Amino acid sequence: MLPARYIVTGAARRGGAAIARCLHDSGARVVIHCRAASQPEAAALCASLNQRRSGSAEWWIADLGSDFDAPPFADDVRGIVANASEFTPSTLQRFEATLHRDLSTHLTGHLRLIRHCLPSLRQQQGAIVAVGDIHLHRPNRGYLTYHIAKNALVGAMQALAVELAPDVRVNTVMPGPFDWPSHPNRFNDQEKQRILAAVPLSRQGHFDELGRAVRFLLCEATYTTGTLFPIDGGLSLRMEGDIEA
Ligand SMILES: NC(=O)c1ccc[n+]([C@@H]2O[C@H](COP(=O)([O-])OP(=O)(O)OC[C@H]3O[C@@H](n4cnc5c(N)ncnc54)[C@H](OP(=O)(O)O)[C@@H]3O)[C@@H](O)[C@H]2O)c1
Repeated sequence: MLPARYIVTGAARRGGAAIARCLHDSGARVVIHCRAASQPEAAALCASLNQRRSGSAEWWIADLGSDFDAPPFADDVRGIVANASEFTPSTLQRFEATLHRDLSTHLTGHLRLIRHCLPSLRQQQGAIVAVGDIHLHRPNRGYLTYHIAKNALVGAMQALAVELAPDVRVNTVMPGPFDWPSHPNRFNDQEKQRILAAVPLSRQGHFDELGRAVRFLLCEATYTTGTLFPIDGGLSLRMEGDIEA
């Protein structure tokens, strides 16, 4: 019998790639989802994984912001990791510029993907893990539509945990600060220091730590559904009161 197959969205690089590698390390087949522009990185990641185990990795291109057909692997999927995300600034003054795109990327695209794969997820007693953000209840200033969209994703996952039980478990990881967002101007040095000063474990997370938390919820936490699982170095303990991160 073939090993279980998992799809990770936004997996060509950074956190998504680490999650896919982590699942692959435990013997799974993985689907590396990305947008067309990231296909070369997805192909390189697949090649390195297939070198270790032939036929264990493939890529799938889709922009979650637009409608897409059922992926070719939809009838054989045990798990989905809803990781793809767009972290760009937005304001009330210009929320129309980003709200639709952010909701599509975080919420609608993932709901469509889950719907396409649902018969297989049910049949295989599968699981879904979404990647949220520990800042959902303490938003960073200047990211209005990102926060709206991530909150919508997390709310949807909790509703689906009820809706899809007992066949499919649905959980969410809530990361704190990991490798800084790829855009060079997202946080200046002062902001980075301020954020790290509030983390009890005094450092950023590494993406392989995110991967292991996702793998735990996806593959091992068989009596857990609907949970929000912080993976934040303890930051959420310090988010009350006057320390903000
Ligand atoms: N980094 C942190 O400190 C941090 C903190 C809190 C939460 N998180 C969450 O942790 C996860 C991993 O973080 P990260 O920093 O690796 O994320 P990231 O670099 O911001 O984004 C992950 C991927 O999402 C994909 N994506 C964006 N829009 C898409 C669309 N419309 N359709 C398909 N794919 C799309 C991109 O894929 P392409 O490459 O194919 O364009 C990108 O590589 C994310 O969910 C993030 O929100 C991260």
